Amino acid sequence: MLRVVVLVSGGGTNLQAIIDAVSSGTITNTEIVGVISNNKNAYALERAAKHGIKNVCISPKDFASRAEFNEALLDTVNQFEADLLVLAGFLVVIPEKMIESYRNRIINIHPSLIPSFCGTGFYGLKVHEAALEKGVKVVGATVHFVDEGTDTGAIIMQKAVGVQKGDTPEILQRRVMEQAEWIILPQAIDLIANDKLEIIDGKVWIK
Ligand code: GRF
Repeated sequence: MLRVVVLVSGGGTNLQAIIDAVSSGTITNTEIVGVISNNKNAYALERAAKHGIKNVCISPKDFASRAEFNEALLDTVNQFEADLLVLAGFLVVIPEKMIESYRNRIINIHPSLIPSFCGTGFYGLKVHEAALEKGVKVVGATVHFVDEGTDTGAIIMQKAVGVQKGDTPEILQRRVMEQAEWIILPQAIDLIANDKLEIIDGKVWIK
């Protein structure tokens, strides 16, 4: 049984997709053992509570330094004894020590087809604003392993979504969530839970 901890900062629609996929059997062999947020107002925490999932807020504001927060975050994660950490809209830079401790066991959902519209400064609506500004006709989402860079880890899954005339950043964000993020993130977790991934020369393939 894969023990999963989901790290969130906002509304938690990706967390909800994971919860629903476990409930429906789309994700097998998996238990969401905890949800961690840096934002005490994150609706994602309420989603966890409604499903009886242990949830905790650990905010940088409550610590004298970033180093102390980083240590407390890693201690909190370790207490769950997770096999896999899932970043689902988690807007905190992951401490290097945490990446080392959970090498190839942290995944992230990014709302673009990496390597487009990713890296520092590309998060939330900013990603979709940039895509519309560029005039691309296809966008999408990417699930990737987390390494020391920003959105630079090995790509696990991607799913494309069409851009439509008249799209606003908000409309496009919602379409990417509905038609890509909420589909490939649960799928990626299920693949990991059932040992269906292999890494060859740093590239991820489904067995
Ligand atoms: C999603 O768009 C995700 O791609 C990005 O942050 C957003 C989180 O949304 N990383 P939610 O909290 O899952 O609704």
